[in-house]
Amino acid sequence: MGGLAGCAPRDSSHSGTHGSRNIFSFLNRSPSPGTPSDDFTPDVEIALRATLDEVQILAGPPTTVWRFQAEVLQGRPDAVVEIPDSYLGPTLHFRRGEAIRIHFTHDLDEPSIVHWHGLHVPEAADGHPRFAISEGETFTYEFKVLNRPGTYWYHPHPHGRTGPQAYYGLAGLLIVSDEEEAALDLPEGPYDVPLVIQDRMFDEENQLIYLEGGRGRGGPMIGFLGDRILINGRPNFTLDAATHPYRLRLLNGSNARIYKLAWHDDRPFQVIGTDGGLLAHPVQRPYLTLSPGERVELWADFSADPVGSEIILENHDIDTGETFPIAQVRIAREETTTLSLPTELSSLNGHQEQDAVNWQNPRTFDMEMRHMTWLLNGRTFEMEEVAPNEIVRLGDLEVWEFVNESRHMLMPHPMHVHAVQFQVIQREVLPEFAAQYDVVKDGYVDEGWKDTVLLMPGERVKILMKFEKYTGLFLYHCHNLEHEDRGMMRNFLIEP
Ligand code: C2O
Ligand code: CU
Ligand code: CU
Repeated sequence: MGGLAGCAPRDSSHSGTHGSRNIFSFLNRSPSPGTPSDDFTPDVEIALRATLDEVQILAGPPTTVWRFQAEVLQGRPDAVVEIPDSYLGPTLHFRRGEAIRIHFTHDLDEPSIVHWHGLHVPEAADGHPRFAISEGETFTYEFKVLNRPGTYWYHPHPHGRTGPQAYYGLAGLLIVSDEEEAALDLPEGPYDVPLVIQDRMFDEENQLIYLEGGRGRGGPMIGFLGDRILINGRPNFTLDAATHPYRLRLLNGSNARIYKLAWHDDRPFQVIGTDGGLLAHPVQRPYLTLSPGERVELWADFSADPVGSEIILENHDIDTGETFPIAQVRIAREETTTLSLPTELSSLNGHQEQDAVNWQNPRTFDMEMRHMTWLLNGRTFEMEEVAPNEIVRLGDLEVWEFVNESRHMLMPHPMHVHAVQFQVIQREVLPEFAAQYDVVKDGYVDEGWKDTVLLMPGERVKILMKFEKYTGLFLYHCHNLEHEDRGMMRNFLIEP
């Protein structure tokens, strides 16, 4: 299957020594990662803290959570916006081109580090697990906002504990804007609404249940599955809306659950954006397939819905077919002003497959499970190692192919690559998996820039991406957080 399968160690217990190359000498070229530098002048400077808190989520006792808190030390005060009554961290609003400095102070008793999911930042600011800090320590991030306007997010990235830390509440949105996007006249202010979708499970005392101690559903193989869907940290989420178009920014912030979303009255979705920002023009979908880490932006026009009506967003369980409501939009008031959906949204400036240095011989990554560990090309995560097939060159355009065809334990895997936004250029599924594939395939949105892509069982996917601006050690991994914690993550090195 994989072109490089011959280099992969057959015995995973030796995966640290065969074929990998110790890259320690390449590391930490930034003189001292995590400390502020004199030649960096921030436009916005933020203090971010991970701490223990209590939030009222359900009726009865409050729930103990882990959460991010933030405050602006210098620069635009509107760079940090709280989500009321939520365990989610505040939403960070950055403008393209701004220089950002964030002092992250860790106040919890296990190591952590923060990653800015989807952002193109220098190695030392990417939140690699080797930079994890302990309770009481501070790590300072410095980066320029280079990304297209869009919906990104931040969450912890320590080795082996990303799942529980994100689950107990450590996550937040990060929204990038610029003037070009502002000129489009998209819905804004109260009409620009994020919907962070997460499943959770509570005990009788309203405390969160994770997989620890044999409780909770799912497991290290399937990943955590909760029995209650929260939106923006709230149960039974209702949006009191006006008869007006809305920009809905959806993030699947769940550890492992894949959603298949549809409006209860079967109205189609007008999709305007994906992980890496706006599409070239709007596209329609009958339903949306959203795997952990993925974002999608919608133009949802409620202008024709009468005051008093309710539009329900439903999830269709992709395994059982069971349908249940996860949020509702209640039309609460008449609004006379309106907006119209632009036919052209942005220019993607995408690449051509034939321009890739390896277009005739893509790098292949086989996904499989052995001895209760998830592997990529036969290897589990190693903190400071890369294999020969995990070294790329700065400036190169490359095709990577993820292959989810191993013979046992076939499962969906949302694959995420740090340091880039990519184009999804090809999908193929083995004939014997076509029926299962048909349940989700019309909900993929591959027209825009992506940083996370779902592979269903039996599927192979080709992506096209260019390694620009920063050299260093970055990660690619499955965004099922239990898979990631169980080794389904590897480094790749961008060499000068
Ligand atoms: Cu959202 Cu490496 O992760
Ligand atoms: Cu990421
Ligand atoms: Cu996975």
